[in-house]
Amino acid sequence: MCGIIGIASNKSVSMNIINSLKKLEYRGYDSAGLATLNNNEINEKKCSGRVEQLEKILFKTSAEGNLGIGHVRWATHGVPNTINAHPHSTEIVSVVHNGIIENSNDLKKQLELKGLKFKSQTDTEVITLLLTNELKTHQPFDAVHKTLKQLKGSFALGIIFKNFKDIIIGARRGSPLAVGYSKDENYLGSDSYALKTMTNKISYLDDGDICVLTKDNVSFYDVKKNKINKEVFILSDDKNVSDKGDYKNFMSKEIFEQPITAKNCIHEYVDKIRDDINFYNFPIKPQSINKIVLVGCGTAYHSCLVAKYWFEAFTSLNVETDIASEFRYRNVRFNKNNLYLFVSQSGETADTAAALDLCKKNGIKTCSIVNVVESSIARNSDWVLPIHAGPEIGVASTKAFIGQMLVIYMLCLKIADLRGDMKKKDYQKKISNIKKLPELLERCLKVEDKIQLIAKDFLDSKGSMFLGRGSSFPIALEGALKLKELSYLHAEGYPAGEMKHGPLALIENGLPVIVIAPHDKYFHKTVSNMQEVIARGGKILLITDSNENIVNENIRFKIDLPLVEESLSPFLFTIPLQLLAYHVALLKKCDIDKPRNLAKSVTVE
Ligand code: M6R
Repeated sequence: MCGIIGIASNKSVSMNIINSLKKLEYRGYDSAGLATLNNNEINEKKCSGRVEQLEKILFKTSAEGNLGIGHVRWATHGVPNTINAHPHSTEIVSVVHNGIIENSNDLKKQLELKGLKFKSQTDTEVITLLLTNELKTHQPFDAVHKTLKQLKGSFALGIIFKNFKDIIIGARRGSPLAVGYSKDENYLGSDSYALKTMTNKISYLDDGDICVLTKDNVSFYDVKKNKINKEVFILSDDKNVSDKGDYKNFMSKEIFEQPITAKNCIHEYVDKIRDDINFYNFPIKPQSINKIVLVGCGTAYHSCLVAKYWFEAFTSLNVETDIASEFRYRNVRFNKNNLYLFVSQSGETADTAAALDLCKKNGIKTCSIVNVVESSIARNSDWVLPIHAGPEIGVASTKAFIGQMLVIYMLCLKIADLRGDMKKKDYQKKISNIKKLPELLERCLKVEDKIQLIAKDFLDSKGSMFLGRGSSFPIALEGALKLKELSYLHAEGYPAGEMKHGPLALIENGLPVIVIAPHDKYFHKTVSNMQEVIARGGKILLITDSNENIVNENIRFKIDLPLVEESLSPFLFTIPLQLLAYHVALLKKCDIDKPRNLAKSVTVE
């Protein structure tokens, strides 16, 4: 997964390319590069590491030119080094690519037989050399068209050509690509977010589309080279998006924004006058739904898991949850009466997008729960439910998780109401409880000081376990995922009842075990599981909203949260776990917003 940018302008473009690449670093930050066209010659600069490195190179050796392309890489084919960084150029053409060329080995052999030499280990260089070959006999547009026909796999491309000082060509198959318009300047970008500081007028390429950009004009063509028109979208204005304010990093800002983002989301969906939830235009009549199927990856998948408990508690429906990378390759029995829900913060996750496409190919209506409404997943869905969390910049998903759970929770209640599975008075009571959620989240954030002290105890630990039952089990998984990705400490999430079937063997003196125990129907069972861990030397951090006095001097730490009705506890119990992961990572001096080896948007499978 990588980020690409292209700018055609009447002034020098390199600094704007750098600024846009900084915004695209959420897609990958192994290496960075750009190429401009100066005096009709291709001028390429690239390096391993972050965009900052590239910027330093530019300060020393400028890259003039009114036309250029740029790239941030998340390595797939070939280690992250300067040679493998994009653009991949020959003397006559320069290419940036997001995606994977699946037949690159075969194409490479064919090109080598023709005497063409490869410099890098990447699949992308195949595109550069195919183009170089086609350009011997064709003008740029036809050379691109002929090249694309030979490629298998996924791509979003930005291409510039020696001696064609006016044009950038973009193309898309599988990987997202947007075009932006401004006066005397036009843009190509992996997403609208990268273009937002330059324009709010955006169009999106569909699969198979090619676009030709000059500073004054953009033309679009379909796969058969027919000229086509594209709708222009005006983007909403997200103020303070890239501003950390007084926070140390985006993640802490995003954790502390959660009461506000939850409030915004509730405002969007809850009709306060009628105490009702506004969801219209269901793709299937709620009364005819056969089963709910929820699909996502990582944190988004955890929100699907929480949803299973809610749907089973409030409706008479069967529920299935799946990790998108599994769903897309299983022999799924599609059913037009199942409601398929795809959950994704970015709306660009390749596996989730492919799972959604699979549904569409099987004639299924799809629904997505996304944060980025301009995303590919949103645009491909029949029904889009935005979570209204605002841009999430930190790689670790926090406010999007709360937003995803909130939208799913409200959807579940609405379906329960429309199907007659829930009594009206219960439905309305739950709505009035939802309205209290922002204030409750605010109170949970107050545990930060205590968590800060507890975090110190994790620094020397070999690993840790997160335990919960019922809907606290997916929250345990989420707590473990946050700790892993931010602090690089091993962490396991487990259903507390499963411990004695194997994982109990891991417990030894001093191993940190986080027990998530809301005062729900599982409470006493969870406490019993906790005692079993204590008996084997586990160092307990108990998080609970129970007033019951659990006397055990072996509970090392206890965090008390406000008592809420059972179904709301996943929201509240998430907060201390986010803070714990954050503070451990901070003490370990980890890169909080950009944990190693990861990217914000996983656009390759
Ligand atoms: O953009 P998405 O919600 O589709 O992303 C899914 C996962 O890649 C994401 O939640 C990932 O697990 C986060 N880094 C977790 O914090």
